[in-house]
Amino acid sequence: MINPKHKAAQEAASYVKSGMIIGVGTGSTTAYFIQELVKLFQQGIDFATIPTSKATAVILQQFELPVLSMEEVSTIDLTVDGADEIDKELQLIKGGGGALLQEKMVAFVSKKYIIIADESKCVEQLGHYPLPVEVIPFGYKAVKMVIENTYGIKVVMRMKDGQPFITDHGHYILDCHFKRIDDAPSLHSHLNNITGVVDNGLFLNMADAAIIGQSDGKVFTVSI
Ligand code: 5RP
Repeated sequence: MINPKHKAAQEAASYVKSGMIIGVGTGSTTAYFIQELVKLFQQGIDFATIPTSKATAVILQQFELPVLSMEEVSTIDLTVDGADEIDKELQLIKGGGGALLQEKMVAFVSKKYIIIADESKCVEQLGHYPLPVEVIPFGYKAVKMVIENTYGIKVVMRMKDGQPFITDHGHYILDCHFKRIDDAPSLHSHLNNITGVVDNGLFLNMADAAIIGQSDGKVFTVSI
């Protein structure tokens, strides 16, 4: 049976039309969407893509899909991306792959923003998944301490191969173990008001729809 993430990606591909500029997300679910984009391109559907990360740009280029930079476009017709948590109001936690900043920029200029995921990403309450907070390297320990002390939570500096994980834009990631987030809008603005924070992984009031692939092979769409 087809993988639920792949099923969601196939459904999202039905929104792609000739002439569109498509924002392409980052992660394992989006990788299936790229497979579907390749098929559409080979069928003669003509579109251009905007990647949400260096990793996605490399994959798009490997498949010889047209890739544009953000500076070349004023708007994006459709962006399809994955998520780490999705609640019933389509509020999201993203950034598990460390690409949250560029993902949020691309989403921000998109006319339509669709999330694809399997059922494991659907939650009643945001916050079980550690919230990624992107910070500048200078003074990151002070920012980490402010978040720990303000919220009384564990904050973990993201590492890769024994070194700090560096985002595509040269920043660090602090993974914040809130366990539950009751007031996402105020948390979002408080975190982003801390000097040294670039952005955080709460994507609020951004998604137009979430396409969820189920283990029984069906998909369902939640839309606003
Ligand atoms: C990357 C992301 C991803 O969309 C998110 O982590 C989901 O990834 P996957 O599809 O591999 O589960 O936000 O920064």
